[in-house]
Amino acid sequence: MSWKTYYDEHLMTADAAVSRIQSGDRVVVAHACGEPSHLVEAMVAHADAYRDVEIVHMVAMGKGEYCKPEYQENFRHNGFFLGSSSRSAAEEGRADFTPSFFFEIPRLFSTTMPVDVAMVMVTPPDENGMCSLGVSVDYTKEAVKQAKLVIAQINPCMPWTGPHSLISVEEMDCIVEHEAPVIELAPPRIGEVEKAIGEHCASLIQDGSTLQLGIGAIPDAVLLFLKEKKDLGIHSEMFSDGVVELAEAGVINNAKKTLHPGKFVVAFLMGTKRLYEFVNHNPDVELRPVDYVNNPFVIAQNDNLVSINSCVQVDLMGQVASESIGYKQISGVGGQVDFVRGASASKGGISIMAMPSTAKGKISKIVPLLDEGAAVTTSRNDVDYVVTEYGVAPLKGQTLRQRARNLIAIAHPDFREELKAEYERRFHCAY
Ligand code: COA
Repeated sequence: MSWKTYYDEHLMTADAAVSRIQSGDRVVVAHACGEPSHLVEAMVAHADAYRDVEIVHMVAMGKGEYCKPEYQENFRHNGFFLGSSSRSAAEEGRADFTPSFFFEIPRLFSTTMPVDVAMVMVTPPDENGMCSLGVSVDYTKEAVKQAKLVIAQINPCMPWTGPHSLISVEEMDCIVEHEAPVIELAPPRIGEVEKAIGEHCASLIQDGSTLQLGIGAIPDAVLLFLKEKKDLGIHSEMFSDGVVELAEAGVINNAKKTLHPGKFVVAFLMGTKRLYEFVNHNPDVELRPVDYVNNPFVIAQNDNLVSINSCVQVDLMGQVASESIGYKQISGVGGQVDFVRGASASKGGISIMAMPSTAKGKISKIVPLLDEGAAVTTSRNDVDYVVTEYGVAPLKGQTLRQRARNLIAIAHPDFREELKAEYERRFHCAY
């Protein structure tokens, strides 16, 4: 049978497709801006037909309505990462959180977390019947491979993102055509604090480095201070609009990369239409599965890898909490530790944990001990540099006393005296 005949025979409405989901199924939804919102909304509209459908994904950028209390008998969300739609559901006991390094998630789908249904969004097929998973290849490609039922939304707005992003029409059980703009992430607001942090981070980045940038205002602020650098590269779990400007200016050209020279290597994308147009059919941009991109052994093959991520608290030993505030889970480890470890094994590599010195303008993020209940996301043995708007604290190779002193020096001035008093109590010596 030709792929075209297969396509026509499996074409159906979203309603028909979601009616094939069974109670108790595990449904893996494509990550972040790759979410097929048309299918998810059809599934929620059919809520009465299901009991205990488990909805698994990482960052949810859609409405996340299945987390609402009225659906708790129908759906149970299980996140690898929590966001605004799922935090309160998890806190109130209506949703679950599964800790996992990002690079290991595809392996879970073939081992301990078998997939019943994969819900994905792809480009229309090319002449060979191949479709691109566009902005989310990460764990989504493996979910397609492992799922018993694959429901795909064919969306002409999805960008085409290279040879490793492809799945064939014959891998899809239900094909639903629906054109809609890909979910966008608006550029963050970059204030004076973020700019100061960005400038300190940029001071640690040499020409020819390969960058991993996390999500949010701080990575974008770092990019503002890289305009005078040369020959930067990207090997990152994600990137956003900020990279486009530097790529168009020739600052990011991937020329000095020791692995995949000339290529932007990335697992998913979050940004605006400008980013999606930049990557569409761009031969220099390769989206690949996250068990490759985020594998620390792969990351380490990039010399001079600079990893920049953010966190919510650092204690005086250098333990980093990035995903919970005390007992409250607010996000997940994502690729943070994958890249911290990859950077540490990269020749000339460094990792940076960058954060404002305070939260809500009044809570110090540098603390004597992490809040009770907080998960240690990045261990004190792994942390390399911590950066706030007040400077850079090197931790690798520093004693407990030295690291405490280095961290106190970049804490907000309003909190330094109490941190110094804690230092004197803990180490039985004058600060
Ligand atoms: N005490 C109390 N509240 C705190 C806090 C602290 N120490 N630190 C942060 N918060 C609050 C903020 O005030 C904010 O509250 P709000 O939602 O009411 O405004 C909330 O927690 C989120 O913090 P914010 O600093 O705005 O988050 P962010 O969007 O800049 O993301 C992380 C920061 C750390 C949560 C995010 O980078 C993350 O999840 N990192 C781990 C995953 C990762 O690094 N992945 C790799 C790259 S994608």
